[in-house]
Amino acid sequence: MTPTILRRLADVVGAAHVITDDDTLAGYLADWTGRWTGVADAVVRPRTTEEVAAVITLCAADGVSVCVQGGNTGLVGGSVPPAAGDSPTLVTIVLSTARMTDLGDVDATGRCVGAQAGATVAAIDRHAASHGLRFGIDLAARESATAGGVVATNAGGIRMIRHGNTRGQVLGIEAVLADGCILRRWSPLIKDNVGYDLPGLLAGSEGTLAVITEVLFALVTPPAATTVAVLAIDRVAATTELIAAASRRGLIVEAAEIMTAAGIDLVHEYGARRPVAEPAPFTFLIEVSGSGTVDEELFAAIEGIDGVRGAVAEPGPATALWAARETHTESIARSTTTPVVKLDVSVPIRALPEAFDRFTVVPADLGVQGRPILFGHVGDGNIHVNYLDVPCADEHRVTEAVFAVVADLGGSISAEHGIGRAKAAWIGLGRTDVDIVAMRTVKTALDPQNLLNPGVLFG
Ligand code: FAD
Ligand code: MLT
Ligand code: ZN
Repeated sequence: MTPTILRRLADVVGAAHVITDDDTLAGYLADWTGRWTGVADAVVRPRTTEEVAAVITLCAADGVSVCVQGGNTGLVGGSVPPAAGDSPTLVTIVLSTARMTDLGDVDATGRCVGAQAGATVAAIDRHAASHGLRFGIDLAARESATAGGVVATNAGGIRMIRHGNTRGQVLGIEAVLADGCILRRWSPLIKDNVGYDLPGLLAGSEGTLAVITEVLFALVTPPAATTVAVLAIDRVAATTELIAAASRRGLIVEAAEIMTAAGIDLVHEYGARRPVAEPAPFTFLIEVSGSGTVDEELFAAIEGIDGVRGAVAEPGPATALWAARETHTESIARSTTTPVVKLDVSVPIRALPEAFDRFTVVPADLGVQGRPILFGHVGDGNIHVNYLDVPCADEHRVTEAVFAVVADLGGSISAEHGIGRAKAAWIGLGRTDVDIVAMRTVKTALDPQNLLNPGVLFG
């Protein structure tokens, strides 16, 4: 990168926020899983939308590619720049939104709030809670994952069963396009049906179409009280049967998470309490709310389900009961001896039992090493398939085998984490050629120089 452009970038954001020393750079160049490491000439940390626009204008004029980074908790390699070998001539910056953390005033009547892209999920939720509202998006990475990141990946999370994914909670957006122009579609209106849904298009765009600089999020009214129950169960189907039974009894399902014995054993090794004493192949956490006799209705619903070996329940938030589920990702990352093969997939609800059976035996069927730990947002049909200790040489075969099962069951190769670099080679699975061409046409129209996150989504 030429000294001239570095100086111009420093003129925009301040010299302290153009980072070029290798030690500091390193923290921005490896992703959360440790599997993806890229190279960049500098990290640039703007503070405002206008500074982002000036940075992008400079990069567009000089053909510098831009990897947008929020909390760097993404799990598909989309938050770090390409590896050295991928594009040797590429000049790249990481544009970090870490300094863009302002929160707007909460509109308690309209139940919405604006947040700069670098504001974390937890900060937005705390801000909403101070006005008696909550952020409808929640995930275990809440203290690091950012507004821009959850929109760019269209994150799901533990409350998706209740409030839907991130796209559905975006009321407005401000973003900088690849030519440096500022797009602002900001309407706290419940109905505004003018033109293409550009905020919806940027949701899930994974940094390839624009730099999201501010988001207007809908907020939700929290339930007066919830009950969290954790059950030891024999059968995967018991989860969706209980969700249906609870709903029939007028209960609102706020969360529904499945774990396996292997996952419970692992998190217990790392200090999380076993939520239920009775051993069982599966553990199911369900959180419900409602009016009237919620506990009685929940216990009555549980009574009617076959294959429940034991259950505990307590009033929400029940952090100790949630701990086993919340510590899965970290415990897996700490335990695996090779980068975990982490496949976030979804299948039709009716196919969940078969999916669990078939994913569990993939490494054994292939005759390769790999410790399966499956868990996830079972109410969304979303299974987080993790194989620990897989030799690097066998990763591709394991991934192909899982995606073959997904395709056979009519599922999706990405439920909530996006495609990133990790799954770009498989984006054709479940998408027709016409669909891929249409997406590429949008990408070329909005980023004709392919400066924004090259290699993400399309490989
Ligand atoms: P980053 O990792 O920084 O970036 C992710 C992608 O978004 C990249 O492609 C990046 O280029 C792009 N991006 C980031 N900011 C912007 C911006 N301002 N404008 C344009 N593009 C941008 N994900 C779920 O969906 N559900 C979960 O339940 C969940 N739980 C998790 C638990 C743990 C412990 C961890 C480590 C991760 C979890 N994740 C989950 C994955 C991750 O937190 C989400 O993908 C999250 O949305 C990433 O946000 P981030 O700010 O860290 O984005
Ligand atoms: C989760 O639900 O915990 C996340 O999606 C992270 C993961 O898949 O490990
Ligand atoms: Zn998840």
